[in-house]
Amino acid sequence: MVHYASADAETISSAVSYACLAPSVHNIQPWSWRLRRGELSLYVDRRRSIPIEDPSGRQLFISCGAALHHLRVALEHNLLEPIVATLPDHTDPDLLASITFRGRAEPIGSSAALFSTLERRRTDRRPFDPPRAGALTGLAVNAREFEASMTVIVRRYGAMLDKASRIAAQEHRSDTAYWNELEAWTTPDGAESGVPLGALPDALSSHEDVSARAFPSGHLKIQRGARDNAALVLLSTASDTPKDWLNAGQALSSVLLHATASHLATCPLTHLTEVEASREIVRDVACRSGETFQNPQIMIRIGLSSHSADTASGQVQLGATEPVVSGRRTVEEVLTVVP
Ligand SMILES: Cc1cc2nc3c(=O)[nH]c(=O)nc-3n(C[C@H](O)[C@H](O)[C@H](O)COP(=O)(O)O)c2cc1C
Repeated sequence: MVHYASADAETISSAVSYACLAPSVHNIQPWSWRLRRGELSLYVDRRRSIPIEDPSGRQLFISCGAALHHLRVALEHNLLEPIVATLPDHTDPDLLASITFRGRAEPIGSSAALFSTLERRRTDRRPFDPPRAGALTGLAVNAREFEASMTVIVRRYGAMLDKASRIAAQEHRSDTAYWNELEAWTTPDGAESGVPLGALPDALSSHEDVSARAFPSGHLKIQRGARDNAALVLLSTASDTPKDWLNAGQALSSVLLHATASHLATCPLTHLTEVEASREIVRDVACRSGETFQNPQIMIRIGLSSHSADTASGQVQLGATEPVVSGRRTVEEVLTVVP
């Protein structure tokens, strides 16, 4: 029997700490939460924006959307059904969602099974082996739940994506302000935000190709000559509003967590969608790959981690290392509980 419950602050605070494990662009964690009288509010924290790379705030919203979906998974694991109103107040565009709670007797759908992936999922910038045939088919439904569409990019259009990548790399390379911003969010291992050096390929391993944003050189060693055979999928939306970005973020989280549950390695990518000329090519490639939504939001590299396959078979790749886990701000820093 369904009953209505007011969730206690401790349970909500625990769910928020799981929400904060969500991926965010450069691990900026641009969210802040407020719990007042049984209602949780999610705000975008614009003090943590990256205005050169993301002037519209699209990637900020996608990141917050991912946190919102992580929150859903954590709440549903605790038999709390979130009632979510996105962008509920047109006078306050930074209020992204208001969440109230309804107690349940039974777990909801697959969300409970996803709970264990919240702590396991991470961005892996090493090359992947291709996913097994059919492994991606089921993931599209996870995007559709949030009004986004997932398309597997047809490899035949690789040359077009190479061109998109060259355009984006050229624009980024010549932009000192972009590099300063990126370097500011590249942080030592153990820092509470930013991308840790131990999660970034070192100078010998990093490569400027379609599947990688060029970051400052890190400490992650990748076997020389390793080829990336990952699949590339794209999340698109019908329009390009803050609500779409929030939805794309929820779809991103759902696809990433379901992929993790299927033992697939993942890496979100936005270098091709943040430069308008390369985004246009991505739109064209997506359309040729069967996509009908016109607004590319974020790509995801998905595949099998050849490193863990080797470890499982007892052979460790020479020179390869595990990426360092990126840090997070504490729940006390991001959640205000109003008595
Ligand atoms: C909107 C968004 C854009 C991202 N863009 C990139 C990207 O272009 N390249 C990349 O390597 N990682 C990208 N990431 C992954 C983040 O860098 C990563 O989530 C963050 O550093 C936290 O690490 P984690 O995912 O391992 O928890 C992106 C993530 C999000 C949510």
